[in-house]
Amino acid sequence: MPLRRRLLNLLSDGEFHSGETLGVSLGVSRMAVWKHIKALREAGVDLTVLRGKGYRLPASLELLERNKILAAARAATVSAIDRIDVFLEVDSTNNWLRGQALNGAPSGTVCVSEMQSAGRGRRGRSWVSPFAANLYLSLLWRSANGAATLGGLSLVTGIAVLRALRSFGINEAGLKWPNDILAADAKLAGILVEVLGECSGPCAVIVGIGVNVNMRPDEATAIDQSWTDLQQLTGDNSISRNDLAARLLDEVIPAIATFDEAGLRPFIDEWRQYDLVSGREVDVLLPNERVTGTACGIDEGGALLVETLHGRRWFASGEVSVRLGS
Ligand code: BTN
Repeated sequence: MPLRRRLLNLLSDGEFHSGETLGVSLGVSRMAVWKHIKALREAGVDLTVLRGKGYRLPASLELLERNKILAAARAATVSAIDRIDVFLEVDSTNNWLRGQALNGAPSGTVCVSEMQSAGRGRRGRSWVSPFAANLYLSLLWRSANGAATLGGLSLVTGIAVLRALRSFGINEAGLKWPNDILAADAKLAGILVEVLGECSGPCAVIVGIGVNVNMRPDEATAIDQSWTDLQQLTGDNSISRNDLAARLLDEVIPAIATFDEAGLRPFIDEWRQYDLVSGREVDVLLPNERVTGTACGIDEGGALLVETLHGRRWFASGEVSVRLGS
């Protein structure tokens, strides 16, 4: 296990540890400990340094661990997973898996990270990814179906994430087309599905999921929309991100497999149940146009229907914003 990871393990009890005792446990000098502490602080880890006492994390924390995720997952999930890479820091778990996919990594390759230095959201946005506050997870899936058939996959992933969240008692969350996960009109989770490969031949899909778990307001100042997290919704500040990762994989893997075989049809009714926007006034933002109307749910292909003053329109892509008060 890398030294920095072992250092965080020692600090994960939230107590003070002196540089000397950490050095002894890790088999390195106090100076080497300090260099790692400094690098962690520069990467955004909130480590207190107190002369005479040592170093401390603000609270105890459970770090992400491959074995804990696998132990909490269903047997069928464990057999579908090829491997789980766990990082302290990566630019983006989707980027990492993209590189792995290009090198031939198989279906079921999973990546999680304690933080992302360049986490990405949909439509070129960034995804705020502070250390150990949230879950950042990506799954690589190879499909015999071409990229063109995979438009509905982001909707299906939204359903799978909601199913997983329900197992944590989050019943009020729902979907804003195509797959924003909101609770109390605030963003709780986001999904970024990226496809590599041919339109009609075999392709690789990277399903990236970010779930806000327990984020401090000062860590979230760069978020430009209202947001919420599992801690705010449940009052529980000890939700295990390892358990959450397992539940997500338990739901996402079979949902993708079903989608691969049967398409969107088995999911349409459930998606409609979770639809938070149907009947509300929306603006649909397209590259060169803004369309205003009343959202009317999705069609059988997953396109958004909007009733406008000039008739009904269908959208296969676009950014939806709900008009205030509607
Ligand atoms: C959105 O804009 O709603 C999508 C956000 C997706 C964020 C996740 S976090 C894990 C994965 N890695 C990334 O860089 N993005 C996705």
